[in-house]
Parts: sequence; structure tokens; C-alpha cells
Amino acid sequence: MAEDLTLIKEGTKEEKYISLIPQIEGLLYGESNRIANFANISAALKEGMNFFWVGFYLVDSDDELVLGPFQGPVACTRIKKGKGVCGTCWEKEEALIVPNVDEFPGHIACASASKSEVVLPVKKEGKTIAILDVDSSKPDDFDEIDAQYLQQIVDLID
Ligand code: SME
Repeated sequence: MAEDLTLIKEGTKEEKYISLIPQIEGLLYGESNRIANFANISAALKEGMNFFWVGFYLVDSDDELVLGPFQGPVACTRIKKGKGVCGTCWEKEEALIVPNVDEFPGHIACASASKSEVVLPVKKEGKTIAILDVDSSKPDDFDEIDAQYLQQIVDLID
């Protein structure tokens, strides 16, 4: 397949997600290596949605996440279960929308420019294997629309 994305420059974020999701499906098609797929999902979301930071934290042990493929500024490498937004998402096993990271108890500030965040668990056979983390440099930049479409993307992972 061609490795170029067709991007919508103007349009609502919903339209951008709707255009991007089948393209991500195409990128993942026939590839079972999760690291490769996490890498391409991160790149497609960064390019297609213009996110400040997007990437995956991988479950590395019973109580720790480690940084996986991502796009954006350098980030902290390890997050304990229950710590920060990602560790809380892992512990609760549910998506979290954080409109103002400064008001989230224990938020881990990898980049001071990050103002709002949406995180989702990537589950396989009922077990969380990774966390998808998306950061914005604007406050209150994410809502249920993001959570809903990002969930569809996470569900594409084998
Ligand atoms: N803010 C996250 C840490 C990861 S970075 O945003 C890339 C957290 O509190 O878990």
C-alpha cells in the first residue's frame, strides 16, 4: 500500500477522524507486530489530527508502564500504576478526559506546554496491554468525540 495519508486540512475534528480511521486500518492491515502498529498509529494521529503529543505507554510489569512508540517532544519513560493520568487510566481501566492537567492530582508534566489530555486503555482479551495518551497544548481540547473515535482506533489493534 501507499504510505502517504490523505489529510483533511479544513473541517471538523469528527470529519478528520472519519477520514483517518480507514487509513489507519489500511496501515495496520496484515501487520501483527504491535510496536510497528503503535508507531504508525502515533504518526498517523500526529499528522492527521495535529496533536501536540501522541503515543503509547506499554505495560512493562505488574505495576509499571514504559514509554513506547510516540510522536512529539521527549517524554518520561516510566510511570507507576495509579500515578499520573496514564497510571490512573491503567488502574481504573477506563478512558479519562482531563480538561486541565494542572487540576489533575499527580499529573506527570512531561512537557510544561501540555494543558489537556485524553487517555485510553488498549485492552486485549480483557487485559490492559498499553495506554494511548494524547496531549494538547490548549486547555479543554478533548471531549467525548475524541474518546469515541480514539476508542475505534484502539479497537483496531490486534
Ligand atoms: N502526563 C502524563 C505523562 C505522559 S506525558 O503526557 C507524555 C501522565 O500524567 O500520565
